[in-house]
Parts: sequence; C-alpha cells; structure tokens
Amino acid sequence: MTGWLDGRRALVVGAGSGIGRAVVDAFRAEGARVAALERDEAKCRALGAEIPVVRGDATTRAANEEAVAAAVSAFGGLDVLVNCVGVFDFYRGLGELPADGLDEAFDEMFAVNVKSQLHAVKAALPALRESGGAVVLTESTSAYHPGRGGVLYVSSKFAVRGLVTALAHELAPGIRVNAVAPGGTVGTDLRGLRSLGLDTRSLGAAPNREAELAARVPLRVALSGADHAWSYVFLASDRSRAITGGVVHSDGGIAVA
Ligand SMILES: NC(=O)c1ccc[n+]([C@@H]2O[C@H](COP(=O)([O-])OP(=O)(O)OC[C@H]3O[C@@H](n4cnc5c(N)ncnc54)[C@H](O)[C@@H]3O)[C@@H](O)[C@H]2O)c1
Repeated sequence: MTGWLDGRRALVVGAGSGIGRAVVDAFRAEGARVAALERDEAKCRALGAEIPVVRGDATTRAANEEAVAAAVSAFGGLDVLVNCVGVFDFYRGLGELPADGLDEAFDEMFAVNVKSQLHAVKAALPALRESGGAVVLTESTSAYHPGRGGVLYVSSKFAVRGLVTALAHELAPGIRVNAVAPGGTVGTDLRGLRSLGLDTRSLGAAPNREAELAARVPLRVALSGADHAWSYVFLASDRSRAITGGVVHSDGGIAVA
C-alpha cells in the first residue's frame, strides 16, 4: 500500500495541538516527512521527540524563515506548507469590546490569524517554487457565517478567504493554494486573545462542547482534528492537482442547516 503523501516534505505551522497536531499525524501516516513551527514550549518538547521542531512566534518573519530553513535542511526541500495557528475572541461583539482595547485586540487577532499565514507562505515561496508545491491554509465556518465567533474572529477568517483567493491567483501555475474550513472541533486548545485577558481560556475546555457541537450541525457529529486532517491530506496530495483557490468545508454540513 502506498501513502497519499509518500515522499512529500511538509512544514506544519501551529502543529502542537488540535487540528495542526492531527495534520502532523495524518501526514506522517500517509508517508510524508514533517517539520513543525510551534510557540508553546511543552508542545514543542512533545513534538520534538518525533519530528524536527522550531520553537518561535509564527506572526514573525524570522520564525517562519527559520522553520522553512530547518525543514529544507532536514528533508532536502519542501513540498507542502500547512498553517494551523489561530486565536479566538470568545464571541465578543463590537459592543462588548473595550474602546481603549480595540487597537490591540485587532492587531493581535489579525497578526495571529492572518499575518502568520502570509509570513509562512512568503518564507516558503522559494522552496515551494522549486518543488511545485502546495499550500493549505486554515479558515473556519466563521469565514462564511456569523455567530460562531465574535466580530474580530469572523472578520479575520473572512480575510483568510481573501488570502487563499489572491495567493492561488498569484502563484498559479507553480503552486496550488487551498484551505480547509473546519467547523467547531473537540479536543483542541484554541486560546483567547491575550490583549483581552483571554489567553488562559481554551475553547476546547468549554463545558458540554461535544454535545453542543453535534447538535449544531445537520450531520450531528462532533468533529475532531483527526476528522479535518484528511481534508488537509487530500489538498496536499496529487489527488487534488486540479484544485487551487478551493476550500473543503469540513463542518458537518453547517451550510445546509
Ligand atoms: N477549534 C475549533 O473549533 C476551530 C474551528 C474552526 C477553525 N479553527 C481553526 O483551526 C486552527 C487550529 O485551531 P485549533 O482549534 O486546533 O487550536 P490549537 O490552539 O489547539 O492549535 C493551534 C496551535 O498553534 C499554536 N500557536 C498559536 N499561536 C501561535 C503563534 N503565534 N506562533 C506559533 N504557534 C502558535 C498553538 O500553541 C497551538 O499548538 C486555527 O486557525 C483555528 O482558528 C478551529
């Protein structure tokens, strides 16, 4: 049996928990060699026992360049870039955001959810051009529908849709750029904005989350990172060679609710 990603060399940004961690596991199970960029020290230690890891802040140029260089040096090149970093706003509406905290909250949300994806792609461009590689970014149902995040989270995820469209247009024919738009997910560690004092709160720890997520979608499933990971495998593989600027809605069918 051959794997869908046999021989592929991948970098996963935000690989320490949740969806990113599941992508690492699925990619490796499908034959890829995987490196990681992750900020959290304990998560880096756990990942580092298995794969090459750079510890750093994905919102910076330096960390992304270091991670790409580490992957290229370990594997001899790079075929796939995945970005799974994210931060949440715990459903804060504009009316609830403090006026004197809006600048900082906006900057943090857009740095983590949007700029990190730009820096990762920019750093990986030379290696991906050489290999004719693929990029898979992470959207959300919040990139299509209101109500599952606050105004900052939803607008940041709409911006990621823009990145996918613009980058797919710019980088064709050499590099494919697609996204996965996960629905609410169990077993992740998605944190809140530090600038709003929400960084010790984890979305995954919300009470009754599994039942609440299943009740919300037509397929009545509470999805895990492993469920979404197969969509990343598909978009990273040659099986999706006809697809760029596309998105897999791994969300239990929320659009037909
Ligand atoms: N959890 C959900 O319900 C859900 C739903 C839809 C979309 N998403 C999106 O999926 C992606 C992954 O989320 P998750 O739920 O798996 O969260 P997670 O927190 O479990 O995973 C994100 C990983 O990125 C790391 N990270 C965060 N900021 C970083 C930074 N600046 N530099 C380096 N590493 C950083 C975290 O430490 C963590 O390991 C995010 O883009 C999120 O918006 C999540």
